Amino acid sequence: MGSVGFSLLTITICIMSQQLVNSLDNGLALTPTMGWLHWERFMCNVDCDTDPNNCISERLYMQMADVMVKEGWREAGYEYVCIDDCWPSKQRDANGRLQADPKRFPGGISKLADYVHSKGLKLGIYADVGTSTCAGYPGSLGHYDTDAQTFADWGVDLLKFDGCYMDWTLLGEGYRNMSKALNKTGNSILYSCEWPLYEWSYKQPNYTAIREACNHWRNSADIYDSWSSVKSILDWSADHQDIIVPSAGPGGWNDPDMLVIGNFGLSHAQQESQMAMWAIMAAPLLMSNDLRDICPRSKELLQNHHIIAISQDPLGRQGYRSIKSNSLEVWERPLSRGRLALAVWNRQEIGGPQGFNPVLLPSWKICHPKCNVTQVLPSYKELGVLTPDSRVVVKVNPSGTALLTISPVESHIKKNQNMQWLNTPLKLKNAAL
Ligand code: GLA
Repeated sequence: MGSVGFSLLTITICIMSQQLVNSLDNGLALTPTMGWLHWERFMCNVDCDTDPNNCISERLYMQMADVMVKEGWREAGYEYVCIDDCWPSKQRDANGRLQADPKRFPGGISKLADYVHSKGLKLGIYADVGTSTCAGYPGSLGHYDTDAQTFADWGVDLLKFDGCYMDWTLLGEGYRNMSKALNKTGNSILYSCEWPLYEWSYKQPNYTAIREACNHWRNSADIYDSWSSVKSILDWSADHQDIIVPSAGPGGWNDPDMLVIGNFGLSHAQQESQMAMWAIMAAPLLMSNDLRDICPRSKELLQNHHIIAISQDPLGRQGYRSIKSNSLEVWERPLSRGRLALAVWNRQEIGGPQGFNPVLLPSWKICHPKCNVTQVLPSYKELGVLTPDSRVVVKVNPSGTALLTISPVESHIKKNQNMQWLNTPLKLKNAAL
């Protein structure tokens, strides 16, 4: 390797390790977490007598793990099977430890973890930084070390730590202490926080501190199975992008909440928008749906390896909204090797598909002198080698999103461009169309 090549590599490594030093140093979530989480779809259904198939019980997670292996989810990258609220007994055991509800989890969490691990998957669990969980089960306040050790003893691989029933001035201390407690166990336990969500009502959270303690963090309200909920999360993320986008990178991610694709509330175009935007935002891809009963189109979308490759891009830069007009938004995410992912979201909910010419975008400069463009959504299409003068029209369905990847063609451009993305400060103000 020539000396120029060597120094470029050195600088790249320095910049990347600088980023890693500032993130929670547990070696996890180097790309956004992928898996399944029960909350949005199954909530706090504890009625196993009348609804054994859908209640929060070991059977639900075992069946989900089985399907994840059989139906290609694990192969697509979905790895964590996660329990949310309502799993424990209302009382701690005689030694002050959390215990699973004995009727719904007769084998206990440790057996469930063994089962999930035997399928090549990982198990996530849920607890709360305060005196009680949001649904009224025992909280971890005063028990952080015990609970972290209990989860480690059971072989749990991820903890979602909620923020209900906690004095907001103590949130930071609580989340940091649980982070330390997990670390002390010596096990690799991915740490998913809700710290900023609970702090935003009182003050602007300190994202440097959050990134040092957590592998991902919820910022905005709980997702519902509706288009208005998905839109409000996207609006929140764009409106706060100057604050939240710079904090994302390998080891730590902003979490806009679960994917609700495959449920009841979104049209197919809206499901495509959620998938595309979650990939652009470098968001954890935690599905909350019933994988035992999901329509083939939703399954194909969730397993789309082109979109997953954008989500999991190793550069680990979160995308942002670059253009907002009355009916269209453009979001972009810098990718490794100087490439760019571009999402054009049609917010108009009347009429037919709108045409959009991406060549007009300022970021199309990466096509100088040439670039290779692939349309990933709404259908896969190789648009071929284009130049700044090419005429391209992508069609965007109402409430849908067209997703493109753009790769510069010349090899010397590729190298320089990669460095450029790493060094250029983010310009997040929305440009005019
Ligand atoms: C909060 C969280 C949700 C879910 C519920 C469980 O609302 O934000 O994601 O965990 O609690 O009670």
